[in-house]
Amino acid sequence: MVSKTRSVRSCCTVLCLGLALTAAPVRADPPAPRDVLERINKARPADQKAAQDAGRKAAFFCANCHGDTGLSKYGEVPNLAGQHPAYVLGQIDAFLTGRRKDAFMQGLMKVLSAEEKAQIVVFYASQPVVPAGTPSTARAAEGRDHFEKHCVRCHGADARGGENFPRLAGQQPEYLRRSLLRYLKLSGERTYPPMTAAVSGLGERNVEAVVEYLSNLR
Ligand code: HEC
Ligand code: HEC
Repeated sequence: MVSKTRSVRSCCTVLCLGLALTAAPVRADPPAPRDVLERINKARPADQKAAQDAGRKAAFFCANCHGDTGLSKYGEVPNLAGQHPAYVLGQIDAFLTGRRKDAFMQGLMKVLSAEEKAQIVVFYASQPVVPAGTPSTARAAEGRDHFEKHCVRCHGADARGGENFPRLAGQQPEYLRRSLLRYLKLSGERTYPPMTAAVSGLGERNVEAVVEYLSNLR
């Protein structure tokens, strides 16, 4: 009896495995945005330019807040110009999975296809950054020292970020301030423990100096 059950089970396993194997190549999953991005990155310059142009068109609605070329119109809205495409795709995904919370952005990301996401992020990445802050002050020089001590190892010497770390140079001061305080106070919109540790090390009283430094940086 026992052995019969076992053999039925193993037969089932074999059948299911067989089905899964034969079904796999037939299933037409839509491409992941990352795969589309990789394809664009490997494309000829003319095709990369075409993808950026398509991204500019697909971003027509985003422009209402993030600006025509990714230089935002509101302090609490981040600039996307010059931001690393892989980082931006990661944040789009974080909105979609709910790992990052913002009711409006979470809803909006659902309407974009994989193709549009990849095109939009390469478009913004190709746009020049104009620093959002006011001209440098003594406070900004103080902020530079704090940045070099607490932040540079991830965000880079010039705060331009990379694939896994956001660019901070030239970012909107209000957005920088809000983001830093959110990580510090664990308010729940974003969770990334190394950022909480870094801002704790920096100290709340030094947030303003770092914001002045970063928002002025090109
Ligand atoms: C009504 C204004 C508005 C519109 C329209 C809008 N956004 Fe946003 N977006 C925001 C705000 C506000 C935030 C910051 C949310 C937060 O505080 O976490 C944001 C954040 C983002 C971020 C995270 C950037 C970072 O530095 O981490 C990405 C990526 C983004 N938006 C992409 C888009 C795209 C793509 C579109 C168009 C399809 C779009 N947004 C349309 C307001 C807007
Ligand atoms: C261990 C690496 C690491 C260190 C150190 C670090 N960061 Fe970050 N930072 C990240 C990562 C990764 C993210 C994106 C996390 C996420 O997805 O929420 C981030 C996000 C941010 C953001 C949000 C940017 C945006 O576009 O949304 C700001 C602002 C920021 N960091 C500033 C700082 C400052 C200022 C310091 C130093 C006090 C610092 N970071 C130290 C890795 C680091």
